Amino acid sequence: MHRSWLIASMATGVALTGAMLVLAGCGGGGGPITPPPDPDPGVSAEFLALLPAGQKGASYIGSANCKNCHEAGVNGAPKVDFAGFEGTKHSQIGVGCEQCHGPSSNHQAAPSEENILTHPRLSNAAVCGQCHGPMASDFKNSPHAHIVEDAVAGASKTCLRCHSAALRADQIDAKLTAGATADEIDTAILALSTEKMTEYKEATEACEETASCANCHDPMKVTTHMMWSNGKQAHLRYAETNADTTQVAPGALVKAYTTYNHSCANCHNGRGGNNTDAVLTSSTARPTYHDSNQYNMLMGMTGSELPNAPVVRQTAHASAAGQCAHCHMPNSKHTMTTAFDVSCAPCHTPGDAAARYAIRGAIEAQLVTLRTRLQNWSRTKFGDPDLWDYTSLVPVGKTAPSQALVPIEVKRARHNYYFVLRDGSFGVHNSVYTRYLLTQANLNLDNIGATKMSGVKLSPAQIKAVLQFDAKKGRTSEAGEL
Ligand code: HEC
Ligand code: HEC
Ligand code: HEC
Ligand code: HEC
Ligand code: HEC
Ligand code: HEC
Ligand code: HEC
Ligand code: HEC
Repeated sequence: MHRSWLIASMATGVALTGAMLVLAGCGGGGGPITPPPDPDPGVSAEFLALLPAGQKGASYIGSANCKNCHEAGVNGAPKVDFAGFEGTKHSQIGVGCEQCHGPSSNHQAAPSEENILTHPRLSNAAVCGQCHGPMASDFKNSPHAHIVEDAVAGASKTCLRCHSAALRADQIDAKLTAGATADEIDTAILALSTEKMTEYKEATEACEETASCANCHDPMKVTTHMMWSNGKQAHLRYAETNADTTQVAPGALVKAYTTYNHSCANCHNGRGGNNTDAVLTSSTARPTYHDSNQYNMLMGMTGSELPNAPVVRQTAHASAAGQCAHCHMPNSKHTMTTAFDVSCAPCHTPGDAAARYAIRGAIEAQLVTLRTRLQNWSRTKFGDPDLWDYTSLVPVGKTAPSQALVPIEVKRARHNYYFVLRDGSFGVHNSVYTRYLLTQANLNLDNIGATKMSGVKLSPAQIKAVLQFDAKKGRTSEAGEL
């Protein structure tokens, strides 16, 4: 079920001007800009469906009333930074509190979480989609409007951190924006009750959102993070470009990957993945990092770097303004798809980008050649081609050997194999580091006398099928991974 998010040479202009579409969305099918009369036909049915039972039938009271209780925090009302809100374009053009939180007369009469739209359903894209219609429909076509079912079904505190927009907005993004530390956030997540986790899981399954508007944007205040494309603020919670690699370096700990200051790398990083020989030796059940190692790849970090240290780690792609957003969100397009004409400008012409993209086929072939070498080694060593792998990835029905019998050279080679495979760009993100990792893997196999290979006799389609099989295998076994 692999979807491709690359739309090659898509038409520019017409469909891609995000800012214009925002305005169009507010005028036409979107919601009200000032508190609407009751009942208001402009509020979307999808938004109304989010409101809790206790809020149904309530009327609008206006933002000034919220201020009475929420500025000072009367009777336990969470404090809201009204001065901050008033600095936003939303406030200035008359978008009031209730346009996102729903009508509040019931709430004013008897304040409770049961009669106001709040977490977990408040982070739903339908809230913003009332007015930002076209942006929301782009978003609905993005991978972030889908969930990885296995990662959500278990209601796991480890997985929902990056796989549930609802949990993340409440427990990580909002808290970070309010100044909580990574340690405080971790402690709060670990202390969540089973009941609360079930609530997040159900909210996530209902809307199928992995990352929503509220994860990437803080709608209630002006932030300091500017858009790379035009230098404007867009309520971005995190920076789009970050050259600091300390939190994605080897040995970075679990809590680090929930708080990294980067719009994408706060989820798309290798979860503390570790490339040291000590860890490759002790941690043999599965790769020591996740499918999400795109930032590590972009910055040239955490592959196995022995026997030779890398001469160059990064290419111009790491220093592209906006980094991930430069290629995956050209013109602020929210589908996360790349397109040669807009993503790769101004550095490559569309034709040059398309030609370079052919690197993908070459890297895929090199990966399968490396895999075949590992299989040949395994056949010689264990009489079976499949026993080179991590123990939980050895096919069902076969018994993995004691990992003490697998030399470090094979452990390094398989680390790099999965690192390149899981990044998913097959050389585009960082061609230099990708080639380097494959070279190191092969040098390691040379050093233990594994038979050299110049290639495999498989068609491109067969090569893709092998890689897809490896990308999917052992997926559910990750449920216990930390
Ligand atoms: C009379 C005082 C009062 C007024 C007026 C009021 N609130 Fe509240 N609000 C509270 C209190 C107290 C709580 C905490 C309720 C609880 O924890 O059960 C609360 C909770 C909330 C929450 C849930 C916060 C959470 O932790 O999940 C939201 C959202 C909220 N209010 C928004 C608003 C908005 C928007 C308005 C104006 C339209 C408003 N409130 C008006 C007193 C008020
Ligand atoms: C553009 C939409 C939007 C507007 C306008 C808006 N909010 Fe929010 N609000 C959100 C979203 C989304 C969240 C959840 C994400 C977050 O907490 O940062 C939130 C969170 C909250 C919370 C919960 C914080 C917590 O810690 O649980 C309160 C309380 C709140 N808003 C009150 C208000 C008040 C009062 C106003 C008006 C001054 C207002 N909001 C205006 C969208 C909005
Ligand atoms: C009631 C309608 C409405 C809702 C709901 C709404 N917005 Fe907006 N938003 C607007 C309008 C109108 C503008 C101003 C457009 C402009 O001037 O370009 C705007 C501007 C923005 C901007 C640009 C800010 C700037 O300073 O230029 C961002 C980012 C944004 N909204 C995000 C969100 C998010 C995220 C949500 C949901 C949490 C949301 N909006 C909900 C109407 C809304
Ligand atoms: C640091 C954030 C983070 C954490 C924590 C995390 N994931 Fe992920 N995961 C991601 C990202 C980002 C992707 C998407 C990467 C991609 O598709 O290339 C992903 C992809 C996946 C995929 C592959 C999905 C596919 O369609 O190919 C599976 C399966 C998965 N995660 C399971 C889990 C499980 C199970 C847990 C908990 C043990 C977990 N994840 C914890 C960030 C995370
Ligand atoms: C995965 C993160 C992410 C998600 C999810 C997301 N955005 Fe954005 N959004 C961004 C980034 C990053 C930018 C700035 C891109 C740039 O620099 O051009 C942006 C830009 C914007 C802008 C400014 C566009 C402009 O041209 O001025 C608006 C408005 C906006 N987003 C609204 C939304 C809404 C509404 C949703 C949900 C339907 C949403 N975003 C979901 C990351 C995200
Ligand atoms: C809240 C965590 C989170 C954030 C923030 C986030 N992502 Fe994702 N992203 C995920 C997860 C989880 C998946 C896998 C979803 C699935 O397969 O259903 C994913 C999937 C993707 C995919 C498709 C991967 C595939 O295998 O098809 C792309 C491309 C992507 N994200 C790019 C981005 C970009 C670019 C940004 C920043 C603008 C970003 N993401 C921000 C969690 C996140
Ligand atoms: C130089 C442009 C560029 C940059 C920078 C970039 N990407 Fe990519 N990315 C691509 C291209 C092109 C692909 C291949 C898409 C395809 O073949 O379907 C890709 C693939 C991916 C995939 C796998 C999609 C799939 O279908 O499996 C994910 C996830 C992803 N990128 C996320 C990110 C994240 C997160 C960042 C920042 C850390 C980033 N990318 C930086 C261009 C870029
Ligand atoms: C910020 C500028 C910039 C952007 C944006 C950019 N590239 Fe590049 N790219 C470069 C530079 C510079 C090189 C190295 C050129 C060289 O030395 O040959 C390069 C190299 C590459 C390579 C490596 C070729 C090889 O064989 O080593 C590929 C593949 C590639 N780019 C694809 C893309 C694609 C596809 C996109 C858009 C999705 C893109 N690039 C966006 C600047 C950029």
